[in-house]
Amino acid sequence: MRMYDIILKKRKGLELTKDEIEFFVQGYTNKEIPDYQASALLMAIFFNKMNKRETADLTMAMVNSGDKLDLSNIKGIKVDKHSTGGVGDKTSICLAPLVASCDVPVAKMSGRGLGHTGGTIDKLEAFKGFSVELDQQQFIDNVNNFNIALAAQTGHLAPADKKIYALRDVTATVDNMSLIASSIMSKKIASGSDAIVLDVKVGDGAFMKTPDDAKELAREMVDIGNNVGRKTIAIISDMDQPLGFAIGNALEVIEAIDLLKGNGPSDLLDLTLTLGSNMLILSGKVNTIEEGRALLMENIENGRALKKLKEFVKAQGGDESYVDDISKFPKAKYVIEVKSEKDGYVNKIHAEKLGIIAMNLGAGRATKESKIDLAVGIKLNKKRGDEVTKGDIIAYVYSNDLDKGETARKDLIENIVIEESKCEDLPLIYDIVK
Ligand code: URA
Repeated sequence: MRMYDIILKKRKGLELTKDEIEFFVQGYTNKEIPDYQASALLMAIFFNKMNKRETADLTMAMVNSGDKLDLSNIKGIKVDKHSTGGVGDKTSICLAPLVASCDVPVAKMSGRGLGHTGGTIDKLEAFKGFSVELDQQQFIDNVNNFNIALAAQTGHLAPADKKIYALRDVTATVDNMSLIASSIMSKKIASGSDAIVLDVKVGDGAFMKTPDDAKELAREMVDIGNNVGRKTIAIISDMDQPLGFAIGNALEVIEAIDLLKGNGPSDLLDLTLTLGSNMLILSGKVNTIEEGRALLMENIENGRALKKLKEFVKAQGGDESYVDDISKFPKAKYVIEVKSEKDGYVNKIHAEKLGIIAMNLGAGRATKESKIDLAVGIKLNKKRGDEVTKGDIIAYVYSNDLDKGETARKDLIENIVIEESKCEDLPLIYDIVK
């Protein structure tokens, strides 16, 4: 078999066999296939797509490219959550400790930023000392001892996805349904949880731009999960504007902490409760969404969730005192006000563009090797539907470079659209796919 022929076949829009898909996945993982050939195949897949059978084969080839975690030593039904990626999506940081505080084991594998979207692992590294490099035994011990562990995808779990994910990030081949579905599900299957709640984002800042595409992606992932015996459901949620107010690593962690202190933005809280109550149902802890939401709210109000966050940060080597003293997080040198140039209503916040503006400030990676700046980013002061008067502050830019900060300010004025009459509201939750 030759990689050249596989690329040509997909370039012509033909269906790849299971053997051809395995040849590519194994060869690329073992460094026998170079980046340029893998990139060419990814671009051919991007344009000519894969069908459901090819996507399932790609998923399982990536699962089989490395170890599979055996979590059978952990008591209870282990639940995991994964988002397809958004702007300002810090949900996992508040959700994982919140669910764990209800005595449900959360065993979560997370990723780094991808394209214009941020990654949970990068964000959590804003806690000094926090480590996501847990070996299998530490991961299991932490879930057994604290009901929570969050690890980076190690070199051993779905290593093919790890390599392909990094390559897609820099070759404009992220937003393809089959590549996203196989990437997410290979990690989830290899990391051994019994149940998976997926947050499939839809809108301007998501990889899926329309509710129909998001639903198709959700269906594909839910079917792959259920077919291999993992209880899987997907929530389709709005990403037509950033989630919450903060975009950027430390800024987002602070917002997630605020939520657990009872002061979270309403959209972030609503999504956290929706995902969390579904996780509690899959784990068998509660029977209804209402019961789940009530238990989660109780644990925010009585401080148990915040305590769990501190326990979690400490257990993974981080300085948990940051939770009580957020001034310890990395801080940007400059905070620049972005003022509205007219009266009216905020009708559109171009989430993808804001993700790119934050990335250009240093919050995300432009190449595989780029280092991210944990302190920089954007904080919105207004959201879709808010009324503004000329001169009102609509956002703040957090920057370590004055020129970059000024460019970001101008870009934000262009991408936060203010019009005379108010636009229609969009739902936060579009659908649930089971
Ligand atoms: N998240 C992933 O883990 N993989 C993707 O391809 C997109 C989002």
